[in-house]
Amino acid sequence: MRKVRVRAIRIVFSAPESVDRQAELVGVEIIIVDNTAMEFSTILAQACPGLRVETDPQILGSHGRDWSDLPFISPSAVVFPESVEQVRQLVLAAAEKGIPLVPSGGRTGLSGGATCLSDEVVVSFDRMRKILDYSAVDRTVTVEPGVVTQAVQGFAAEKGLYYPVSFASEGSSQIGGNIATNAGGIRVVRYGLTRERVAGLKVVTGRGDVLDCNRGLVKNASGYDLRHLFVGSEGTLGFIVEATLRLIDPPRPSRVMLLGLESMEDVMSCFALFQSSLELSAFEFFDARSMYHVRDGEGLPAPLDDECPVYVITEFDCPDEDIEQRALECFEKGVDEGWLHDGVMSQSVQQGSELWRYREGIAEAAARYAPYKNDLSVVISRVPEFLSRLRAEFDCICPDYDVLIYGHIGDGNVHVNILRPEGESQADFDQRCKAITDSVSKLAGGMGGSASAEHGIGLLKAPWLSTTRSGPEIDMMKGIKALFDPAGILNPGKLLA
Ligand code: MLT
Ligand code: ZN
Repeated sequence: MRKVRVRAIRIVFSAPESVDRQAELVGVEIIIVDNTAMEFSTILAQACPGLRVETDPQILGSHGRDWSDLPFISPSAVVFPESVEQVRQLVLAAAEKGIPLVPSGGRTGLSGGATCLSDEVVVSFDRMRKILDYSAVDRTVTVEPGVVTQAVQGFAAEKGLYYPVSFASEGSSQIGGNIATNAGGIRVVRYGLTRERVAGLKVVTGRGDVLDCNRGLVKNASGYDLRHLFVGSEGTLGFIVEATLRLIDPPRPSRVMLLGLESMEDVMSCFALFQSSLELSAFEFFDARSMYHVRDGEGLPAPLDDECPVYVITEFDCPDEDIEQRALECFEKGVDEGWLHDGVMSQSVQQGSELWRYREGIAEAAARYAPYKNDLSVVISRVPEFLSRLRAEFDCICPDYDVLIYGHIGDGNVHVNILRPEGESQADFDQRCKAITDSVSKLAGGMGGSASAEHGIGLLKAPWLSTTRSGPEIDMMKGIKALFDPAGILNPGKLLA
């Protein structure tokens, strides 16, 4: 007997002719999946002439996963569309044959949004990397989804403008992925998330429709703004095939301060004063364990005379000496009032970059230990309470673990990295970390926060979506998913498990 796997069973009933008649069974369609590697690639190659379809194991290996450390499951093929029309044909063929598709950008995500669950076909946007249009009057640039974030920043700079979304993986991440995850980073406190930059989106839905959402308009009072449904949808509703992004004035000269403080309550006092006195473009924090590891990993000297329990890195506009004076007064006030212990301020762009290394190097320093990672948020004012409850949970669940806590405090976004102790097996570590995810997601949700601040739900957090979203909200999300992707082929298992 030959064993087969069934991907879907579609049962079709006729509409009853009147209320007292029953619907009649018209037919049953069973979509069988049987070692499909060859079949999927052949079906797509035939249905989409000119589409590059790869089954080379090296390409499957590189494109079937992202930066999350989920176990690797090989896709059956990786396809590289080059045009909107090819994406449309691909989606139509996949919907008809029940072929699951996983969109893949720079694959820098940390929640498994671009990893394979089974034998899906990965859709890479590596060959859609053109900058299509620029308008100096509208201050917008229109790009294909595979354009790297840093290339957009560079293009904006060439035009004397600025694309403010900035984060550690900006040299590899792609705009399509940034939009699909509503990427944040270190400048959100001033400029907001990727969502704020999206002036228009062209999308191929799971039905194969091409939607041209908002078309770069500033004002558009014509009903539901579908563009925003796709921002943060993690490729579950449609594939972004073009994006029109808003650029802004370049930032003014700035200064960077690295400050040492005693407690998170002190960080809040610092944020309140600095925010009301200066034009902040970043306000980040990290704890003493993060400082230890970043110095160790990056070989950095101690930035301050004494070690402190918590550090802040802040950047603010400083176009003249008056503002510099104001910044120093803020610093002195903090010292006088007893909530600021020590600090340094950059005197040049070079010194500013050197100070940023203490914050930007943390994730890389921790990466050497393949850490457990989490990304949570609460409203800014509740961060101190959240962190003290978080630490109490850790004292209970894993008092022996080395925990690094850092993040974008000006946005209420906390990152947790936990290093596996020597001597503990990976399996035991993973098991305990699952309990940690459960408890911290519930803690954040219970405080009105989110189980995912900026890394997305993906595969990793899908079981905990309900800690952040209510039952009716999840039902609505599922209804929206069914409308845009009736065959359920777009990034299955992600976001809505
Ligand atoms: C960061 O802010 O450094 C990243 O989003 C978090 C990380 O990689 O842990
Ligand atoms: Zn972050």
